[in-house]
Amino acid sequence: MVKNKKMPLEEFLEIRKEILTHWKTGSHPMLDLDKAVEALRQVPDHKNFAKKLRKAKELGITMIQPRAGVARLDEHIELMKYLEEEGKADFLPATIDSYTRHNRYVNVEDAINESEKQQRSLLNGFPAVNHGVDGCRKVFDNVNVPLQARHGTPDARLLTEIIHAAGWTSNEGGGISYNIPYAKNISLEDTIKYWQYCDRLVGYYEEHGIEINREPFGPLTGTLVPPSISNTIGIIESLLAAEQGVKNITVGYGQGGNMVQDVAALRALEEQANYYLKLFGYEDVFVTTVFHQWMGGFPEDESEAMALIAFASTVATLGNATKMITKTTHESFGVPTKEANAKALRGSKFITNLVKDQKMPESEELDFETAQIKKEVDSLIEAIVRVGKGDIAQGSVNAFKQGLIDIPFAPSEMNSGKILPARDIDGKIRILEFGNLAFNDEIKEFHRAKLEERAKKQGRELEIQMVIDDIYEVSEGNLVGKVGE
Ligand code: 5AD
Repeated sequence: MVKNKKMPLEEFLEIRKEILTHWKTGSHPMLDLDKAVEALRQVPDHKNFAKKLRKAKELGITMIQPRAGVARLDEHIELMKYLEEEGKADFLPATIDSYTRHNRYVNVEDAINESEKQQRSLLNGFPAVNHGVDGCRKVFDNVNVPLQARHGTPDARLLTEIIHAAGWTSNEGGGISYNIPYAKNISLEDTIKYWQYCDRLVGYYEEHGIEINREPFGPLTGTLVPPSISNTIGIIESLLAAEQGVKNITVGYGQGGNMVQDVAALRALEEQANYYLKLFGYEDVFVTTVFHQWMGGFPEDESEAMALIAFASTVATLGNATKMITKTTHESFGVPTKEANAKALRGSKFITNLVKDQKMPESEELDFETAQIKKEVDSLIEAIVRVGKGDIAQGSVNAFKQGLIDIPFAPSEMNSGKILPARDIDGKIRILEFGNLAFNDEIKEFHRAKLEERAKKQGRELEIQMVIDDIYEVSEGNLVGKVGE
């Protein structure tokens, strides 16, 4: 049974040995923990993810980071350098390919070889495990900003070992956020354990004076996710990480579309992450935030896509996000070219810079939404604690099983999948069908009233068709779906 308890060092080292020998990379000298600690000690401050984020937070600015990754090492390095120089990226990723995400390293090897033959990428990301510590280290040596692995890997233990040993000082993911939205049938209990391992490794580094950033994946399925649901999971994963010794956490949120709700969500997320970390006894965790530009369906038209990117950048800056993950005008077609990626970065930075001295004005509406999200998060976390009898790891497993926490549109069989979100008349994301979600009657009544108001104003029934209309609406240039569109 998975427990939210710091993994004892001996147990961690035992599992570590298994992971490294099983994948036959155990002989690599950099994977000697002491050597990895020494290598990480040499990382200069400007290439340390946690330190640069702290600087952004102190300055009150929103820094930018793209997604990017290709199969061949040389091409990936060229891509990284290009995004740093031409895109002015503050942080660089490696978006990891899908085979690696599923630990299919033999398939990766074939794809790398074929990519070399054809001199083009046949993978949808950078295969960090197959390129190994040496390859990842080469990427690190060729850039001047911090590096992070961004993926969607249920079992990222080997990947995590490799990237950190290579000097990459951040890792995205979590036992819930890299399972439920990404996998169909992988045990939640298992993925929580896998991510406890990833966090324990970071804890080990922190114990040795090395700062490593961790980022739970905020947007989940990226489509009409009610803020309280994604915030709850971000907070739970932060608590699980902190127990393993993680000290630098970036909690994330994907743009919903209504500016006030988005700013409220970011604010509630940061405040409640700090609140719950302290409440559970983790006093010295440094929390930052990341705002994801629109994660739903994008318009095909490149001007419209760029406008959506600019709007997202405005909201991220007004909402004071520490970091923003950018999209590109190629979003609706596939993996972007490096030129398109850099253009979107420059456009994004233009806005974050332009808007940096302005904050979202205080208002009753903003206060109300912030308080509403917090109330809902409290209710969900309370349920998780209750069904875990005080243990949030066990609580998460049980809460998903019972549908007390439920992520819309997720493929996982571990998720009950009974809730249906829809927008209210202002475009704020509310919930139409609750399934067994742990909301009390007052909260449910609020959501119902908001959606009834929309139905009335639009002269339609309170119906599932609303949900379907809303899913496609942004790519069509509207936020709230209309009847007959
Ligand atoms: N390069 C750039 N962007 C990528 N994405 C996925 N893989 C890559 C890659 N190799 C983007 C998708 C989507 C998001 C989840 O990640 O376009 O926007």
